[in-house]
Amino acid sequence: MTINKQQLKEHQDYWDKGADIYDGIIDNEIMNDSYGKWEAILSKLLKDKPSLKILDVGTGPGFFSILLSRMGHQVTAIDSSPEMIAKANKNAIKYECDISIIQSDILDYKPTHSFDLIISRNVTWFLPNPVAVYERWHSWLGECGQVIIFDGNWNLFLTDPKEAALFKLAMQEAIAAGYVPYRTEEEISEGDHIALTLPLTYVKRPAWDIGLLTHIGFQQVTSLHGFDVELQSRPEQILNKYRPMFAIVADK
Ligand SMILES: C[S@@+](CC[C@H](N)C(=O)[O-])C[C@H]1O[C@@H](n2cnc3c(N)ncnc32)[C@H](O)[C@@H]1O
Repeated sequence: MTINKQQLKEHQDYWDKGADIYDGIIDNEIMNDSYGKWEAILSKLLKDKPSLKILDVGTGPGFFSILLSRMGHQVTAIDSSPEMIAKANKNAIKYECDISIIQSDILDYKPTHSFDLIISRNVTWFLPNPVAVYERWHSWLGECGQVIIFDGNWNLFLTDPKEAALFKLAMQEAIAAGYVPYRTEEEISEGDHIALTLPLTYVKRPAWDIGLLTHIGFQQVTSLHGFDVELQSRPEQILNKYRPMFAIVADK
């Protein structure tokens, strides 16, 4: 999919506007018991390997970068949104982490060294060119490098009537259980509008990614499920029961 400058700017503006809200969510995640749960998930996946060179793609306010830096890894964090980068810089100082933080679109980024791990959370659903991005990730990894992608079929309900019916039901139940949307109606509608222009809104994941990563040359491409339940509040668990988070792990 080709994307023009105006669309790129629209995407950047969308995340710039969300930076304050995300920063609050991340701050909360660092302070509450999510932090320890994510640390346990990542430690298990990284098998306690020390001092890895890690690229955190679409770092937002920097949650994974802070966590991985505190675990002793050498982290480079990139994000295309200047406001998100400002939050990530602020948080790196606040939590006293030495992270290399770079404002760049993933497709413009030119790494100066290879990585042991490329990781992202809730970013790949937003990629206009996931094929090109996954190819680059393969080329940026060193020998024995690994990719770990956390994401979900967050917007499949916009393009699949069966998913739409399930999501509607889940939303009603979640609201009855106390779920309060953290974005305004206007922000939700802007997000939906952009999502409809993105290729991964139209495919079932992680099966789609697994096929592509294998085709690109990644080895032992696997997906993990079920780990996200304990990370969410009860209303969020209800909201997301038909669209759980998954993790994809792939070796170079
Ligand atoms: C939902 S937020 C997730 C932030 C963070 N990974 C987390 O889980 O807290 C998505 C982030 O991806 C960034 N992003 C989206 N597309 C990008 C791209 N093409 N290149 C770099 N960053 C991108 C956005 O600016 C935003 O900060």
